[in-house]
Amino acid sequence: MRVATVLLTTFLAACSGGAPETKEIVIGQYGSLTGGAATFGLSTKNGIEIATEEQNAAGGIAGVPIRMVLEDDASKPEEAATTVSKLLSRDRPVAILGEVASSSSLAAAPLAQAAGVPMISPSSTSPKVTQVGDYIFRVCFIDPFQGTAAAQFAYNTKGVRTVAVLTDVKSDYSVGLAQYFKETFVSLGGTIIAEEAYSANDIDFKAQLTNIVSKNPDAIFVPGYYTETGLIARDARGGGYKGILLGGDGWDSEQLVGIGQDAIIGGFYTNHYSVDDPSPVVQDFIKKYQAKYGTKPDGLAALGYDSAKILYQSMTEVAKNPAHAAAFADRSAVPATEGARKAARAALRDELARVKNFPGVTGTITIDKDRNAEKPAVVVEVTKDGPRFVESISPGGSTAPAPTGTEGAAPADGAAAPAVAPAEAAAPPVEAVPAAAK
Ligand code: PHE
Repeated sequence: MRVATVLLTTFLAACSGGAPETKEIVIGQYGSLTGGAATFGLSTKNGIEIATEEQNAAGGIAGVPIRMVLEDDASKPEEAATTVSKLLSRDRPVAILGEVASSSSLAAAPLAQAAGVPMISPSSTSPKVTQVGDYIFRVCFIDPFQGTAAAQFAYNTKGVRTVAVLTDVKSDYSVGLAQYFKETFVSLGGTIIAEEAYSANDIDFKAQLTNIVSKNPDAIFVPGYYTETGLIARDARGGGYKGILLGGDGWDSEQLVGIGQDAIIGGFYTNHYSVDDPSPVVQDFIKKYQAKYGTKPDGLAALGYDSAKILYQSMTEVAKNPAHAAAFADRSAVPATEGARKAARAALRDELARVKNFPGVTGTITIDKDRNAEKPAVVVEVTKDGPRFVESISPGGSTAPAPTGTEGAAPADGAAAPAVAPAEAAAPPVEAVPAAAK
């Protein structure tokens, strides 16, 4: 379903009073605007919309306005592939933004790759996504890092020694994150005492949780999305579980607490940014977002914004070549111009691969040789008033213990989230920075 055609039609009046000719540059976007992961797609759309308005207010790309064509994939990977194939053939976009869910990005990425159209996922964290090919990028960290960060937080900061893992076995994201978490947690000395499975759209998790609760783990790791996680939390607490609930970025939704209610309060998850970060780039974005949408942006909105900003910056650079600028605005089906269009998109791919030290809302973004971004993660706590910053974890690759003495550190309410730059390749291992106590 075509749900929105955002923005700007500027008319470049034909010189001698003829019919005005519309010139525009089309970008495709696909996401989950409905279904079990609807808030992912909606937040991402909002973030991208702000970036697109800013770019158009500044003259678009080399004077030509951007038009965003957005398609809903209903939170289903099969639909993601269908919508992207429609975008590619109908709209001939210069580039594509999406998806959030790794399984949906994985379903659609081969189509963008085959068409030679750069695709940027704002937030898919499965390593497999960018492995599809050299036209596929992301602006977020990947799950080997996120899983390590979650395991270190559990073991080092919370003193967790036994964990049960409850995985969505149909989700590439969930399966991968569960595996990376387990590897690090076991290597630190922890024990996985139960492993259970579910599938997206399940609504009853009592059987799995009866088994888990009987083993009484210190924590239950739930690398799932917010809808199922909320229900899992209720079944866990309903079954008498008193330990820690822990997860990853898939928990990031304003609906998590609506679904999980009291059961999810006090849970912890790793994420891409924190609204408590005092840095001006974060606070400016929050202000703009709140003015337009009336809520605080979640991590998806921030990543959506960053992905579009990076795309437009790279397009602007490529459009300095007049032939490429013309090819960006060319959507004709005429084979004669096909070569020029392909060349412009290839130049855009090369430009995206060169992105370095981009000052994103979600941290400094450098695209690495695998087309991923190495950035810090944050750990937040679920509260009634939204996610609260607990600590920031920098990439570094190894699993050495974080500084001790952070156990029980009081989460800072509105306090400064230390801005932590990604570690250099040779820098010391993953480093946890607790929130400043009040
Ligand atoms: N990282 C998740 C995935 O790859 C998607 C996600 C990102 C969800 C950020 C919430 C917040 O499937």
